[in-house]
Amino acid sequence: MPLSATSDRDSDKQGPQPASPKPTFCFRCIGCGSITSNAPQDFRCAQCNNLLEITDSSWNSRNPTALKSLWRERRTLNAALDLSGVWRFRELLPAPASEQHVVTLREGNTPLYDLPLSSRITGVSHLYAKHQGMNPTGSFKDTGMTVASTFALQAGYRWVACASTGNTSASMAAYAARGGLRSLVLVPEGKISWSKLSQALDYGALTCQLRTDFDGCLRLLQELVRRAPVYQLNSINPFRLEGQKTLAFELMEQLDWQPPDHIIVPGGNLGNSSAIGKALLEMRDVGLIPHLPKLSVIQAEGANALVRTLREAGGKKLVSVQAETRATAIRIGNPASWEKAVKVIQATGGTCEQVTEVEIAQAKVEIGLEGIGCEPASAVTLAGLKHLLRQGFVKKEESVVLILTGNLLKDPDFTMEFHRGDLFQGSTQDREDSSSLKPFQHPPVVLDATLDAVIRTLEQAEKSDAPSHA
Ligand code: F0G
Repeated sequence: MPLSATSDRDSDKQGPQPASPKPTFCFRCIGCGSITSNAPQDFRCAQCNNLLEITDSSWNSRNPTALKSLWRERRTLNAALDLSGVWRFRELLPAPASEQHVVTLREGNTPLYDLPLSSRITGVSHLYAKHQGMNPTGSFKDTGMTVASTFALQAGYRWVACASTGNTSASMAAYAARGGLRSLVLVPEGKISWSKLSQALDYGALTCQLRTDFDGCLRLLQELVRRAPVYQLNSINPFRLEGQKTLAFELMEQLDWQPPDHIIVPGGNLGNSSAIGKALLEMRDVGLIPHLPKLSVIQAEGANALVRTLREAGGKKLVSVQAETRATAIRIGNPASWEKAVKVIQATGGTCEQVTEVEIAQAKVEIGLEGIGCEPASAVTLAGLKHLLRQGFVKKEESVVLILTGNLLKDPDFTMEFHRGDLFQGSTQDREDSSSLKPFQHPPVVLDATLDAVIRTLEQAEKSDAPSHA
């Protein structure tokens, strides 16, 4: 059964509850600009085949001061829609026909942390991490999935489906289960972490491991949605991006509506950067923020389609790559939302950079030493910041927010191999570069169960100077 938006707590009398708004949104092609009230199954423009985005003429007429106080007040309320860190911002989201359809797991409401160790390492004193890995299924996908699964349910679908590097499938399966929908997952065999795969299994998805990469899975899904009545929940689906906009709304609220100088986000299929950029532009247009932060996207060197698209083709045509990286979440060579991402990077004055596998591993363990942790794909943000500082694109006195997209527990194999020193086995170049990682590796120690053995180990550890910010 769908989780009713208002029925699970008897709390809807606790504060101002505006009546359910009438749907006023429509779809706009990002290429030719044509507008339609209904989107086809593949969410592409019937005229020019480009991607669609959602727009709503009512958004621009909102009063920014009233919105800020309404959204803040909702944080004290207990109605299901207000407890969601996505639906709390519903005035700037597409409105479902009925709040009864809303499928929510209390997503969003994620912490904004300061990063004392990384501040010391980089010299950036105003450095923060918005940790989307603290969402119900452990990644940022949940903020988009609550909106897109709600509209899947409203449209009367029985099956939802996605191609995934792991997090989308985990999130989709959870929201499908919660909404009473069946879910079909297409993942590249052997190229996603076990913990993400195991989430999809427990949430009840029909899980297919295909002998291809993510790009192959996505191609197959595109054909499937034309042939079978399944609703696709990849980030091509513009409802996903609408939900993911709330990351930026919530971030600005946490910063008292004073935008940072820079926001840095990992790039894979490029839905998230597009969503954050869309939210920034909309917030500026509504008058919620006085100016735009620069939005920059970081990719793994082995999956650098956007970097190459901007450098080699001026952002005018996609340069696809054969993707390879241990940050499997962003192992994507043919990103679907590349044009949306190019637009928002250019509109905000941001940039795009790539980082090596060794740099990703080092940044990941540094974020771990903050007591926070993240999955490898998220760590590209800190690694990328170091590049942007060296290039002078980011200045030490500027404020920077890193978007951490996934939880540390999402990829335990990577973490264990890193600490055991096995991560770069078989790759000669990386093995040479990776000697700098040695001081960060602390593999588990196997000892006889004696007090002496433990005390000796403790004394040795005391003598070594493990990196820390103490
Ligand atoms: N970080 C993590 C942890 C991810 O799972 C993803 C994408 C990204 C960053 C990149 O975000 O695609 O919006 O640019 N994961 C997708 C998946 C592709 O299937 O889970 P993006």
